[in-house]
Amino acid sequence: MSGARASGRTAAFDAIAPTYDASRGGTARAAVFAEQLSPLLDPAEPVLDIGVGTGIVAAELTARGHRVCGVDLSPGMLAHARERLGARVAVGDAGRLPIRTASVAQAVSTWLLHAGPDPRAVFAEVARVLRPGGRYLVIPARGMRPTDDIGRIVNDLEDRLDPEHRRQDGPDLLAPSAAARGLAYEGPAERRPTVFRVSPAGMADTIAAGRLFTGAWQVRDEDLPLVAEACARLRALPEPEVPRVREMADFVMVFRREG
Ligand SMILES: C[S@@+](CC[C@H](N)C(=O)[O-])C[C@H]1O[C@@H](n2cnc3c(N)ncnc32)[C@H](O)[C@@H]1O
Repeated sequence: MSGARASGRTAAFDAIAPTYDASRGGTARAAVFAEQLSPLLDPAEPVLDIGVGTGIVAAELTARGHRVCGVDLSPGMLAHARERLGARVAVGDAGRLPIRTASVAQAVSTWLLHAGPDPRAVFAEVARVLRPGGRYLVIPARGMRPTDDIGRIVNDLEDRLDPEHRRQDGPDLLAPSAAARGLAYEGPAERRPTVFRVSPAGMADTIAAGRLFTGAWQVRDEDLPLVAEACARLRALPEPEVPRVREMADFVMVFRREG
């Protein structure tokens, strides 16, 4: 990643670090992720958490008997991780890991690959640091895109704001890129459906505040009309104030280092 892009990303996560945990489902979300990852991890081997953030998921893995160390680009996020994990975390770029070649048995990333780094660079680095046969477990942020009436409007907006799909981290997009770098996609595992309620107007409010689903999403001024149009479409849906039941599913993408 270029220095300018990296420092912009760092600043964005530094800014939201104090409120990150509470605004992203807190310990409950982290515990669910740890429950999904834990059965796929070898407790006898250390785990590298790439994009460890505030360490909230790593702490839940630690509580389940795993030895976790982490790297993250954002010193602000890492300050919280250090409180949870002590000296086992370090500043590092996922696209240039400060780790020896073929020294890692297993690595994880939760909600990283949509959040700024170039997945191609991350996969190349993960392939370098993993031992042959080692696994990289990824919980994507946008792995599954709901196609209900709210979802169709939001997906359309995301595609228009992100035509190169830099913020999409589902298997369709990522598996070929990983394979080209020596990481074979073994498929989804530990699928957990989640159900939540949101109204079209509530979703429009979230989007209008420039937040979409991540506080780090920077909407450019020239794109604001696209956001306004999506909000108007949401508010034009039937019964816009009435919360709908929406279903999504978290799952783990399993990659294996070939060779
Ligand atoms: C959405 S947060 C997820 C944090 C944590 N994994 C979790 O599930 O709570 C994304 C994290 O990725 C980090 N990040 C973004 N780009 C990175 C990069 N190139 N190298 C390392 N970390 C990066 C951010 O600083 C942030 O902490």
